[in-house]
Amino acid sequence: MHIIDIGTGNACWLLELASQSPPTWRLQGVDISSLNYPADEYLPKNVSLSTLDVFGEIPNDMVNKFDVVHIRTFALIITHSEPMPLLKNLVNMLSGIPPLSLSKPGCYLQWDEFDCSTLNAHAPNPHTGKKSCDELLRLWQLFARKTGLDFRWVSELSSSFNTSNLQVVDSLRLPPIDDLRKATTDNFMVGFEEIGGIAAGKSSELLGSHEEFRELFRKAIEETQQGVSLGLDMVEVVGRKPTDSSCSGS
Ligand SMILES: C[S@@+](CC[C@H](N)C(=O)[O-])C[C@H]1O[C@@H](n2cnc3c(N)ncnc32)[C@H](O)[C@@H]1O
Repeated sequence: MHIIDIGTGNACWLLELASQSPPTWRLQGVDISSLNYPADEYLPKNVSLSTLDVFGEIPNDMVNKFDVVHIRTFALIITHSEPMPLLKNLVNMLSGIPPLSLSKPGCYLQWDEFDCSTLNAHAPNPHTGKKSCDELLRLWQLFARKTGLDFRWVSELSSSFNTSNLQVVDSLRLPPIDDLRKATTDNFMVGFEEIGGIAAGKSSELLGSHEEFRELFRKAIEETQQGVSLGLDMVEVVGRKPTDSSCSGS
């Protein structure tokens, strides 16, 4: 089994998979930047990491190669709701080798994505206010649109799989899980602080002055300390490359 994780980041998905799968599986990760990679010394022997711009030309030795291609959270990277060029590259990476054994049903692309259009603030009870969090999210959606981010493609991902000649075998929409609300909210707030700082400096007509944004952010933090959480749906689509083939196993 040969699996690649695209935009692997700190390789956490691959490393978890490595801990639950046979050491004979070859697990490969690529990212445009290796800055977040764990040191080689910490990687299991069957995990390898390298750099690749997955929007560019895919090197020959990665074409028709993998039994499973996995990609997660590219929502802030894909602009103008255009996942098709990337999807085409991912499909090209899937193995297309003719059948070796009928027991191997095919090669799969799994795409796990945040549906950022569903990002919302959730109060734990009717007495807890969330006005500032709502306003923060409203500004963020405005800013996202201004910068060419349009998340409609996430809801349409399974149709895009069909258009790309993949047979959809699974398509799920996963709402936020209460157990993870606090941790997810903390992560989002770190991101908003960073994005907001950059955005407020650059486009004050949208987000107001830096000071106004800081004040809104401070109030939003207070609300999260009272239990308000930020959450969004995750969309997961799995598609099968329609060959009668087994996968490469090479
Ligand atoms: C939000 S992170 C997700 C990391 C990882 N997939 C996860 O779910 O934990 C997006 C990753 O995509 C990578 N990335 C951005 N543009 C890319 C490109 N053109 N080619 C490959 N990776 C890219 C970033 O460097 C970053 O590590």
